[in-house]
Amino acid sequence: MLALRRVGSRRYDPRMNCPVGQDVKRAAAIIRDGGVVAFATETVYGLGAHAMNPQAVARVFEVKGRPRFDPLIVHVNDTEAAKRLTATFPKTAERLADAFWPGPLTLVLPKVEEVPDLVTAGLSTVAVRVPIHPLARQLIEQAGVPIAAPSANPFGQVSPTTAKHVQQQLGDRIDYLLDGGPCDVGLESTVLHVAEDPPTLLRPGGVTLEDLERVVGPIRSLESTEIDDNHPQTSPGMLSRHYAPRTPLRMVEDLTTCDVPRKAGLLTLNHPPAPERFAAIEVLSRTRDLREAAATFYAAIRSLDTQKLELILATPFPDKGLGRALNDRLRRAAK
Ligand code: TXA
Ligand code: MG
Repeated sequence: MLALRRVGSRRYDPRMNCPVGQDVKRAAAIIRDGGVVAFATETVYGLGAHAMNPQAVARVFEVKGRPRFDPLIVHVNDTEAAKRLTATFPKTAERLADAFWPGPLTLVLPKVEEVPDLVTAGLSTVAVRVPIHPLARQLIEQAGVPIAAPSANPFGQVSPTTAKHVQQQLGDRIDYLLDGGPCDVGLESTVLHVAEDPPTLLRPGGVTLEDLERVVGPIRSLESTEIDDNHPQTSPGMLSRHYAPRTPLRMVEDLTTCDVPRKAGLLTLNHPPAPERFAAIEVLSRTRDLREAAATFYAAIRSLDTQKLELILATPFPDKGLGRALNDRLRRAAK
């Protein structure tokens, strides 16, 4: 008999696994009919539903165990489709879309009335993104509707970057899993509020701040004092604890001076001093390449999380480029 494993606060039953494959036609039909499909994107796997169908969207919240105050990103295939969901599309948005779509950038803009309140958690804005992953694009194309999708993990947990991750976490709760292989970027999209100038960075991600600023000039970053779990509406996805493994995770600046418990794991960009102190080590890029590190980051956290460690120690990344997004995820995983 197959054992039942704990996933979040419920039991995951591997006998109930959903169909998995590359059958875009089937996945698109499920979306149109109000079902829930997990699908590959270049950032992380998404948990998709027909964005204009509130009942389908409600299932996404239910499957993910996501609080209703945390709005979803709507995925479309081009700027024209994004404009149909938004009441205004300022010049800044236009420039960003030209430069980074399709790709890992999400723009938050005033919504049109037709976008269901459930998708936007009652906000007057909607988050839109145009993915570049070919399977995601085919799915949107064939479904013929915008697809609302959060990352395909139970709320607060580590995001999935392979189909197997999705299967392990949500495989028994979804209608189909569109397997597009491991995600290239490996971190979620950058979320940028562009309704007013200057734009505000709500979540660092796959497009770097440096690249954004090269196109639109200075971008305002949310100060940590503005990120308040009691006022999640200002930036709903910025709840401080998020992206978290089960094993406690702590950030350490200096590995040479810190205390290392007996069963500690290490998550680090490049090879550490005195590696024998650790029961398990994940080196993300021997050449200190932040792209390579981002692509394997979540899989490395998952791997450490399965090794019955007392603690995961993690060294911060250089605070530039993708390193900012990586540090952001580490800080939230460490809370
Ligand atoms: O890369 C990604 O963005 C992935 C893939 C599947 O596209 N999706 C993803 O979704 O990471 P999710 O739900 O895990 O994160 C969406 C973020 C959350 O922080 C949410 O609060 C924010 O976007 N968001 C969505 N709509 C918003 C809005 N109207 N105003 C402000 N933030 C919004
Ligand atoms: Mg997420």
